[in-house]
Amino acid sequence: MTHFVNSMHVVFPEGEKFFIRSVRRFLKEVKDPDLKANIRGFCGQEGVHAKEHENFWEVMRSQNLHPDSFGELINTYYFSNKYSIENIILNGFNALSPRLGEKMNLSITAGLEHYTAIIAKAVFEEPILTNKSMAPEMLELLHWHACEEIEHKAVCFDVLQEVDDSYAIRIGGMLIASATLWSSLIIGMAYFLYQDDERNAPKQVSIGSEFVNRVILGKMGKGLANNLFKYFKKDFHPDQIEDNGILERFFKDKSYA
Ligand SMILES: [Fe+2]
Ligand SMILES: [Fe+2]
Repeated sequence: MTHFVNSMHVVFPEGEKFFIRSVRRFLKEVKDPDLKANIRGFCGQEGVHAKEHENFWEVMRSQNLHPDSFGELINTYYFSNKYSIENIILNGFNALSPRLGEKMNLSITAGLEHYTAIIAKAVFEEPILTNKSMAPEMLELLHWHACEEIEHKAVCFDVLQEVDDSYAIRIGGMLIASATLWSSLIIGMAYFLYQDDERNAPKQVSIGSEFVNRVILGKMGKGLANNLFKYFKKDFHPDQIEDNGILERFFKDKSYA
C-alpha cells in the first residue's frame, strides 16, 4: 500500500500537468463563462496538487527511493516527451483529422478525472486509509486532494461535451486512460518495492494477495467497478455519481478550504 501511494505521488503530478495542458487548449473556444471560470479553477487546483505531491518526493529520497528517475520514466513514456503516449496520440490522431489528437487527450483527461473522482469517493466511503496505516499529515493530504477531485469532477467532461460530444471519443479516451493509469501505478509500485531496503518478497506476496482480496475483490473494488462502468452509459454525466455531502463534512472545519 505504501509503495502504491508512493507511485501515486509521482504519477499524479506528471498526470496533473498533462491535464492542465490538455484542457487549457480549449479555453478560448469554450463559450459558457461559468465553464471558462471552472477551467481556470481546475487548472489552479491541479497545479497545487502536483506541487504538493512533488514536495513529498523529498521524503521518498530520504528513504533511499528514487522518485526523480521514476518521474523521468513517466515523462518519457507517458507524458510530455516527443515519443510519449501523450504526443503519439496528439500527433497520430491530428494526422487523421484536425484537432482529433487534442480532443483525444482531453477525453483521456476526462476519463482519468472520472477515476480520481470515484477513487476519492471510495476513500471516504471505505476507509482503508486511516491514521493507523499512515501518518496523519499524509492522510490529510490524500483526503484534501480527494475532496478537490470530487469538487471539480465534471469540468473536463463538460469541456469535452461542449467541444465534441462523440461517444466514440469519450469511450476511446476512457480505455486509453484505464491502460495508462493502472500500468503506470503498478510499474511505480514494483519499482519502489524493489528499492525498499526492507523488502521481503514472501511477505510482500502475502500482503499483496490480502490487498487484492480485501480491496480489489472486496466491497471497495465492487463499488469502484460499478461507478467506473457508469461512464460507459450513453447519457452519463459525472454529477450522476452521488457524493453524499463528503465535501461539506470535510471542509467545514478546514481553515485552508
Ligand atoms: Fe488532482
Ligand atoms: Fe482532478
